[in-house]
Amino acid sequence: VRKYLVGQLSGRFADKFLENFHWVKENLWFKDLLEGLCEQKEWEKGVGLVGDVGVGKTHLLSALYKNRVWWSVIAGGRVPVWVTFSDLVAECYEDKSFLREFVEMYDLFFVDDIGSVGMDLREMNVLRELVFRIYDKSKVFCYTSNLSRDNWNVDERVVDRLREICVEIVVRGKSFREGM
Ligand SMILES: Nc1ncnc2c1ncn2[C@@H]1O[C@H](COP(=O)(O)OP(=O)(O)O)[C@@H](O)[C@H]1O
Ligand SMILES: [Mg+2]
Repeated sequence: VRKYLVGQLSGRFADKFLENFHWVKENLWFKDLLEGLCEQKEWEKGVGLVGDVGVGKTHLLSALYKNRVWWSVIAGGRVPVWVTFSDLVAECYEDKSFLREFVEMYDLFFVDDIGSVGMDLREMNVLRELVFRIYDKSKVFCYTSNLSRDNWNVDERVVDRLREICVEIVVRGKSFREGM
């Protein structure tokens, strides 16, 4: 199993935290929720961040991920892993047993950019297997996507499970990429 792709958060996000996220008023309602999560040793549910391109979904998810790394290292909390959805799909394509081992190895899954350009059959299968395995093992799942899970073109059983184990938040705002 090639493991080097997994756990690699792009260096661009190394210094992105909740503290340097600019909160437009439409997003203030979930500021306390995310800050509260950062104080907890264990999470009962994961978080899904959805919204338009450039509004800061990966920024926020990477902040939560780094917080979990910190808890894991300092306080022996559950072990998180970061992966982009496209890397995950590529890994699964190379190695059929990848997902099973992957879900066994970690406790909290941070999956960036699910189905950003519409999912093909292969991607839908990867997502379904990932969610079913995480659900069955009672692990924590977090994600970003341009689309709400209600609009993902996947098996309804996937979305049902996600609703149960994961809170979805719509991030609002104008693209920061344009503004900079
Ligand atoms: N509200 C914000 N406050 C501070 N920086 C932001 C904000 N929204 C976006 N950014 C920055 O803009 C860039 C693009 O954000 P990113 O998280 O990649 O967007 P998305 O994942 O939603 O497409 C990143 O460098 C990010 O840190
Ligand atoms: Mg992103």
